[in-house]
This record gives sequence, structure tokens and C-alpha cells, in this order.
Amino acid sequence: MLEQTKYRLNKIKYLLTLNYQKFRVTIFYKFNSNKDFKKIINSNREFLKSVQNFLPEEVYLTNDYGIQRRIYDQIDKKISSHPTYSDFIVFLIIKIFKENINYLEIGVSVLKNFLQINYNILNSHLIAYDINEINPVFTNISAEAKNKNTLSYFTGSVLDINDSNEFKKKYKNKFDFIFSDALHTPEAIRSEYELIIKDSLADKFIIYYDDLDFEGLEFEFSNIKLDISNNKEQKIYFYTFSIFGWIGEHEKLHKNGMITNINIDKLMKLESLKIFKFKEMN
Ligand SMILES: C[S@@+](CC[C@H](N)C(=O)[O-])C[C@H]1O[C@@H](n2cnc3c(N)ncnc32)[C@H](O)[C@@H]1O
Repeated sequence: MLEQTKYRLNKIKYLLTLNYQKFRVTIFYKFNSNKDFKKIINSNREFLKSVQNFLPEEVYLTNDYGIQRRIYDQIDKKISSHPTYSDFIVFLIIKIFKENINYLEIGVSVLKNFLQINYNILNSHLIAYDINEINPVFTNISAEAKNKNTLSYFTGSVLDINDSNEFKKKYKNKFDFIFSDALHTPEAIRSEYELIIKDSLADKFIIYYDDLDFEGLEFEFSNIKLDISNNKEQKIYFYTFSIFGWIGEHEKLHKNGMITNINIDKLMKLESLKIFKFKEMN
């Protein structure tokens, strides 16, 4: 009985937080958006509408692709025009690199974000890295390529040096944009940085992190920033902000962050775009 009351109270608290966040985000973007950003949001929603089911239930029961049940139940649910990380990533790529980039996503799950990026960027090489075999819905990944992009998929763990060596043998290009979204522990993001990211950064780069509100992640994120600053003789910026994730407003805002040698704050001022709780760290 006591457990049930506790559960109900927590659920009410969660729903209140969710609604409060939605309200704040709606007001915030009413005054701080940008025409091109809105176009990207519409384009991403259009793509999501075209996929009926990212992962059939019978497949989910044999492999959950890192998706908790509460997320799985909403993975195909329509999302509103509140910005998600997929929208912001496309915006950054288009505004900074324009086209022709090497994009690496570490932790792709059912490819929900990966395919939105593919839908919007041009002439680029997109590489997926995940511990799981590719989602059977998109087994023929090359067939999903849009806009003269090339897509490839690598199966490996961020904790395994043999996997990362194999990966580096296969993909020799440097990456302009890396999205870190695999195992959200400090040890795992450190390992991923040492094994995959550190020697693979292009001259102009962005490393984008999801879920910095997970325990210990933001601390490790600043350690990685320090390491990059010590290795490169140039100014390294790092930023954090809050944005919706892969199921949009159906879950709480995620704390995201970036380590980059590009002045993103300046770009956003130029574009008159503000992102909720965006701040530059020291
Ligand atoms: C949060 S999901 C990725 C979501 C995806 N980026 C998106 O937005 O659509 C995390 C993924 O990381 C993968 N993962 C977990 N541990 C891993 C590891 N040690 N190495 C590589 N990938 C891992 C899981 O299989 C899962 O697919």
C-alpha cells in the first residue's frame, strides 16, 4: 500500500515536471527560434512520420537495443515541434560544415537519430558504431542513404580495444562531428574518448554528448575537455544546455554538451538562435 502511494506520488511529480518543462520550452522558443531551425524541425518530423515502427515488439523482446521499456512504448509516438537533439545536430552541421562531412555516431540503437541526420545533410559519410548488430528493420543500411550520403555500420564496444583497433583500420578518415550516445558511465565515455575519439578529430570538430545529467558524466566530460585543451594548441570551447531527446517531449529534457574548437556561441548569436539553458563553461 505504502509502495503504491509512493509510486503514484512519484508519477504525479514526474508528470508535473514534464508539463512544466514543456510550458517553459514553448515560451522560450516562441522568442528565440530561427527560420532554418524551424525548417529542420519540420523535416525531421516528416522523416519520423515515414517510419511506421523503428523496432517490432518481437525483436525488442530478444534484444532491447538499449531502450528501456518506458522509452520503447513511446519510440514511435508523434513528437511536437519542440527541438530535440537531432534537430540541433542537423542545424550545427548545416550551419558550420554545410555538407561533405564525416559524421560518427557512437551508440545508435535502432538508428532513430542517425537516419534523421542522413535525411537532412548532404554528400556526407555517416558511420554508426554500436555494440549491437544492426537493427533488422534497416539491415541494408546503404539502401537508406539520402542526399548522396554514404552510410556504414560497425559492431563493437566502446570498452574493447580490439574493436576500436578494428574500427580504426576500417575507417581512416578524421571525423568532423562525433555524437557520443552509447554507454552513459564516466568509465565508458573516457574509454570511448581514448580508444576512438582522441586521434580521430578533424581540424574543425564537434564532440556532442547526450545525458550529461547521468551520475559522474559531466565531471568526466570536463576532464575530456581538459585533455583536448592540453593536446591542442588552440582554444577549446565547451558548452552545456537542455534539450529533448529521441522521444521528444514524452520524457524530461536531457542535459547535453559539446566540446569543440568552433565558437558556437558566436554562431548562435549570428543566427539569432538560443537553446534552452545554453551556457559556455570555463
Ligand atoms: C541511448 S541508445 C542510442 C540512441 C541513439 N543515439 C538515438 O538517438 O537514436 C544507446 C546505445 O548504446 C549502445 N551501447 C551500450 N553499451 C555500449 C558499448 N559498450 N559499446 C557500444 N555501444 C554500446 C546500446 O546498444 C544502445 O544502442
